[in-house]
Amino acid sequence: MSPSPSRSLAVAVVGATGAVGVELLRCLDQRRFPLKLLKLYASARSAGRRMPFAGRELAVQELTEKSFTGIDLALFSAGGETSRRFAPAAVAAGAVVVDNSSAFRMDAIVPLVVPEINPEALRTHRGIIANPNCSAIIAITPLWAIHRVNRIRRMIISTYQAASGAGAAAMTELEEATRAHLEGREFQQKVLPHPYAFNLFSHNSSIDPETGYNGEETKVMQEARKIFGDPELRISATCVRVPVFRAHAVSVSFECERPITPAEVRELIAQAPGVKLVDDRARNLFPMPRDASGQDDILVGRIRPDLSDPTGRSISLFSAGDQLLKGAALNAVQIAEQLLAAELRAAS
Ligand code: A2P
Repeated sequence: MSPSPSRSLAVAVVGATGAVGVELLRCLDQRRFPLKLLKLYASARSAGRRMPFAGRELAVQELTEKSFTGIDLALFSAGGETSRRFAPAAVAAGAVVVDNSSAFRMDAIVPLVVPEINPEALRTHRGIIANPNCSAIIAITPLWAIHRVNRIRRMIISTYQAASGAGAAAMTELEEATRAHLEGREFQQKVLPHPYAFNLFSHNSSIDPETGYNGEETKVMQEARKIFGDPELRISATCVRVPVFRAHAVSVSFECERPITPAEVRELIAQAPGVKLVDDRARNLFPMPRDASGQDDILVGRIRPDLSDPTGRSISLFSAGDQLLKGAALNAVQIAEQLLAAELRAAS
């Protein structure tokens, strides 16, 4: 990304027709990201399709190695295979890539960034910045406020993950399967491996035969350690797909180094950026995916002592965050904003 005194960038969105791609466009528009040019790319299937952007319509083009000429910033959300194949071409053409796939996340030279947690990691990027796994972002962003004042040494995470994490086709499958179920019709699922309507199942990523953890659980555990910069963090995750459209929920129990009270945690969460306290015991009102959908903030509540730890070091809580926004598109655009701010600081 070359310094730009006019403060505007030529941006490519790769995977613009997907569930995250649509939200990337919305975030760029709503946050008034300074655009000199915006190019939309997807597969050959979508070439010529028109997508709304800022009151106009932009044509989608087929992604090729030549798509990045003149591009300053490429936001990728088209799956790991597309990122592995095309992100190096984007970097070679001079673009900075913010990649939403898992292709580069655990690469030691690639920063894995949640701007509320580790923006300083951006300083060492070499062209590619990875956007973390959606469940990892939603689980650990609220916990950072606690970790930085009283180190979390162990956490147990259970996720309740929405259809959107498996893409637009999975959201459509949830809708169609539910309609078929209510109408008493047979439905053959094509996107997800199990019946989705009125059901839930262990996350649809493959299981590591040695550990017994699925791919999603492994991502959450490894990425949490990398983003916190704490390789000693002890963590176990259970990831489950639930029939919800677009916001993930997460149950977390964590153990700190020193004793901590629910009141302290509530205070820390209330002041933390990117999160919102929803913890109304009197009305039994706590974070729900329905309320989190469309919101930038991660909702956090059910803050209570973990009574299985008599030392007073452990807390349980429950969060919900929009998988497509903070879990994906919003975090990527926030990374781009940080890059631009740093570049402008360096240029001034
Ligand atoms: P397309 O709509 O043309 O298939 P989702 O995560 O919602 O499934 O979206 C995936 C996104 O990635 C879509 O925009 C999809 O485009 C895009 N995509 C998938 N395969 C490729 C590819 N080989 N090259 C470019 N874009 C791709």
